[in-house]
Amino acid sequence: MKKLTIALWSLLATTSLQAQEVLPVYLDESQPLEQRIEDALSRMTLDEKIAVIHAQSKFSSPGVKRLGFPDFWTDDGPHGVRPDVLWDEWVQAGQSNDSCVAFPALTCLAATWNPQMARLYGESLGEEALYRGKAMILGPGVNIYRTPLGGRNFEYMGEDPWLASRMVVPYIQGLQSKGVSACVKHYALNNDEEFRHQVNVVISDRALHEIYLPAFKAAVTEAGTWGIMGAYNLYKNQHNCHNDILLNQILKRDWQFDGVVVSDWGGCHNTEEAITNGLDLEFGSWTDGLTMGATNAYDSYYLALPYKRLIQEGKFSTKELDEKVRRLLRLFYRTTMNRQKPYGFLCSESHYEAALKIAQEGIVLLKNDRSLLPLQQPKRILVVGENAIKMMTVGGGSSSLKVQKEILPLDGIRDRFKGAEVDFARGYVGDTVQSYNGVTVGRSLYETRSADVLIAEAVEKAKKADVVILFGGLNKSNYQDCEGHDRQQYGLPYAQDRLIEALASANSNLVYVNISGNGVAMPWLSKVPAVVQGWFVGSEAGEAIASVLAGDVNPSGKLPFTWYTGLEQCGAHALNAFPGVWREDHQIIDEEYKEGIYVGYRWTDKQKLKPLFAFGHGLSYTTFKLGKLSADKQQMTANEKLTFTIPVTNTGSVAGAETVQLYISDKKSSVDRPVKELKAFQKVFLQPGETQQVSLTIDRQALSFYDETRGEWVAEPGVFEALVGTASDNLPARCSFNLNK
Ligand code: BGC
Repeated sequence: MKKLTIALWSLLATTSLQAQEVLPVYLDESQPLEQRIEDALSRMTLDEKIAVIHAQSKFSSPGVKRLGFPDFWTDDGPHGVRPDVLWDEWVQAGQSNDSCVAFPALTCLAATWNPQMARLYGESLGEEALYRGKAMILGPGVNIYRTPLGGRNFEYMGEDPWLASRMVVPYIQGLQSKGVSACVKHYALNNDEEFRHQVNVVISDRALHEIYLPAFKAAVTEAGTWGIMGAYNLYKNQHNCHNDILLNQILKRDWQFDGVVVSDWGGCHNTEEAITNGLDLEFGSWTDGLTMGATNAYDSYYLALPYKRLIQEGKFSTKELDEKVRRLLRLFYRTTMNRQKPYGFLCSESHYEAALKIAQEGIVLLKNDRSLLPLQQPKRILVVGENAIKMMTVGGGSSSLKVQKEILPLDGIRDRFKGAEVDFARGYVGDTVQSYNGVTVGRSLYETRSADVLIAEAVEKAKKADVVILFGGLNKSNYQDCEGHDRQQYGLPYAQDRLIEALASANSNLVYVNISGNGVAMPWLSKVPAVVQGWFVGSEAGEAIASVLAGDVNPSGKLPFTWYTGLEQCGAHALNAFPGVWREDHQIIDEEYKEGIYVGYRWTDKQKLKPLFAFGHGLSYTTFKLGKLSADKQQMTANEKLTFTIPVTNTGSVAGAETVQLYISDKKSSVDRPVKELKAFQKVFLQPGETQQVSLTIDRQALSFYDETRGEWVAEPGVFEALVGTASDNLPARCSFNLNK
């Protein structure tokens, strides 16, 4: 018996010893993450360490094969999972399993003013990414809408730092809950496309911290993003992909970011700066060391052999390298090595439902005279405009997608209004190219008739219709809403203004649906009774827009930016501060953000300008009434919170949603402050006759400004006012309170 026990014990001991041997710390899930990282790091060779910090193909970087870490695949982002390109070419790989669901562009998501929609967005996108084997999505983008000419505004979340912050956090949390990393972009101050590699942004610390950084900060400190993408441009004469202040000081020291800084594709320019200034993972350099295009040049990346040589020559120790690799390993454990992550699925019904719901909540009813909308069972509908028949998921730059389906507006209208006769007139010719990066839509938009002929045809048809729905706006072509260039004009392109004027004279029931991610000039606005902002809403575009026009869905979107009458209402343009001034050598363009913190409504408020549509504006098919605003106290101290409550009633006859917005006004300050700033909001869904109490809570941060002399946020004691309402130009409920010492 004794012998047997001893034998059993020794067997158990050897087995557990063997178990220990076969399961090193870095693979043992029961061990703390940081210990696993250190263990893995200690086992890696110099070559393996160098390998994981730069790309091996257009969108992937190597894992550590010897230790069982798989390769790391990234992909754009941010509106759906981009189709695969060849290993080392910007050419379609021709896969048959990479047709995705296109979710609405992020301006539309921001226009929902509903963080739950952002969570749903992130989760759905994460599931698509998982199916496609992508560990990181290159998004979301939160650069601030500084001017409506910004070519990539459609990819971002509008002009307000608070709104963008509230929306970006749940997007990231949803995405990362699936074990897929976000890569928030483009950090920071990437507000121009045209000269994005050459722009050196000159900006006050206050504007940097109050306007341009908060959404990134929330992404890091609240959402805990695992990745962030450095921007192409420069700040303080240093490229942002290896910028000491932005990366080392603000991101990693102040915000304690523990994830990976990824370069934008080709945004790295210097090995030594990249080593010391916070870049962790280099992508897209396309370099042979000369910044020239060269294929399979990965060994020549700034963080590849050039880095290894500096270590071998003793110019650098492996201190910085180890720190970068630690971050990469942490990212691997969070994504590729996360064995708890769920399975993904592509093009599922639930993803289409999510895309539809987000689109329906984001579409904004800008104007609705005579309650022309929703349409009352029209018998003859005329649809006009190229944007009714143009796919918008293809084009626009890196966010371009290959979709399994995209319902075009004309098809959506035909499907929804089956009982009606639906005719179509082209109206204008925009850009007939319907392909991007090898993805072609397979439908021709070829048209040779002149603008005059097209307008005349549309007018003739309009005279016979009960209602005319014009789909116009911008598109995803160069110089429109598209990466790489900025818009060249605020006005609508392709003679659309003439078309709109002509249609408005021919038929008084004209509905204009504007497809864009930016504001546009509307000199004809007084002649058009109904205007809808239809964004770029992805796969379900036609169905989403038709459901709003028909009244199946009551619109509840609110503008995430100020819609100016003209560029002169925008601070950056009024001060002639866009796009900046070239230096003599014509290498760098200095762009001074002269408007400072006065971006969007902060500028129009200060100048007492009346925009075409205010930030936060958006109509509904029902009416809402706000009751009396109350606060849980009249005085607060710096450590306390203050909660405002206001009853909201749906006073109309259909269900609908209203977004209650709270702005703070500092009545007396030692520094210049905006008239008001958004600091809380909540969207409520109400049945006819229903009332809900909406509570909005603020803390000291909502009262603070960034003190440039102290380099910190400061809330000065004194009187503040809370302004509450349903748009930045409709804030009838007000209440003063005091911040005590
Ligand atoms: C864009 C990024 C994008 C990357 C990869 C760059 O040109 O600026 O937003 O993620 O390409 O496609």
